[in-house]
Amino acid sequence: MQTPHIPVLLNEVLASFKDIGEGYFVDCTLGYAGHSSEMLAKYENIKHIGIDRDDEALAFSKNRLNPFEGRSTLYKGTFANIFPTLKEEPILAVLADFGVSSLQLDKMERGFSFNSETLDMRMDATSLLSAYEVVNEYSQDKLEYIFDAYGEVRSYRKLAGAVVEARAKAPIKSAKELSEIAKSVIPAGGKIHPATLMFQAIRIEVNNELGEIEGLLDALEANHSKGEVVSLISFHSLEDRLVKNRFKKWSTACICDPQAMRCTCGKNHAIGKALSSKPVTATKEELKINLRSRSAKLRSFRFKKDV
Ligand SMILES: C[S@@+](CC[C@H](N)C(=O)[O-])C[C@H]1O[C@@H](n2cnc3c(N)ncnc32)[C@H](O)[C@@H]1O
Repeated sequence: MQTPHIPVLLNEVLASFKDIGEGYFVDCTLGYAGHSSEMLAKYENIKHIGIDRDDEALAFSKNRLNPFEGRSTLYKGTFANIFPTLKEEPILAVLADFGVSSLQLDKMERGFSFNSETLDMRMDATSLLSAYEVVNEYSQDKLEYIFDAYGEVRSYRKLAGAVVEARAKAPIKSAKELSEIAKSVIPAGGKIHPATLMFQAIRIEVNNELGEIEGLLDALEANHSKGEVVSLISFHSLEDRLVKNRFKKWSTACICDPQAMRCTCGKNHAIGKALSSKPVTATKEELKINLRSRSAKLRSFRFKKDV
């Protein structure tokens, strides 16, 4: 089947689940079922749960996963909401490939692209907040905050000021207009398009992307006991930092105050172990065929099994 999205780090993801026993594999970001279909084909003893907030992605994947009927269940919603409510047992493998898919980015009417005639950026086209409201209704302070915190835009104040000035004349209706504003503030010539970080910031706000990751990590932290493996793929430092810090916390044995003279906690507080100390990144071969893999970082963690 022709797929609109090439799964990143596919071999590495499959390898991270190599010891998976008989149980459920949850793909929190089903997308076009690239990773999911390969997992189902390779590991015949697993059952599959796919979660996505995008109806188009779910419809495509339902069709793609037809050959695995009886082994696969799909849920619509966000992973931070759905994952903690899953009743299927035992869940032994969890994957999340954060961010947007190639199709979401490329489809002009979704409003993710710099040349879009719309201003949308919702992964779930039925959710209430879109980029239009963020850009036209948020206060200047709030825009400054998201450009700084979610985009790490250096000239975040100037950029928020330019947006507020432009919308005072007439509402900003398209991503195209918005990227022109970014170009007027941020000099071209760097490695990335001047609007890239502003778009990232707005997309994160619209889809609560960082809150979603925190929610998933919280759910995993609250409920683990079966030696589950969790593999998470990040595409920028804000996502990767959340994952890295949480894995560090989970693998720390001693929770005593760093100032304490000696350890009194028993040094047995680690709840598992990261599968590698550094994130796994794309090979030269993958970089040649999939541009998206350039910034992909995979981190995997195995929880301890309760005895
Ligand atoms: C990078 S794509 C995943 C591609 C997939 N791994 C594949 O091989 O086809 C990310 C997908 O996750 C979905 N998504 C992103 N954040 C989500 C969230 N918090 N809850 C549910 N789905 C989410 C997006 O709608 C998109 O379809």
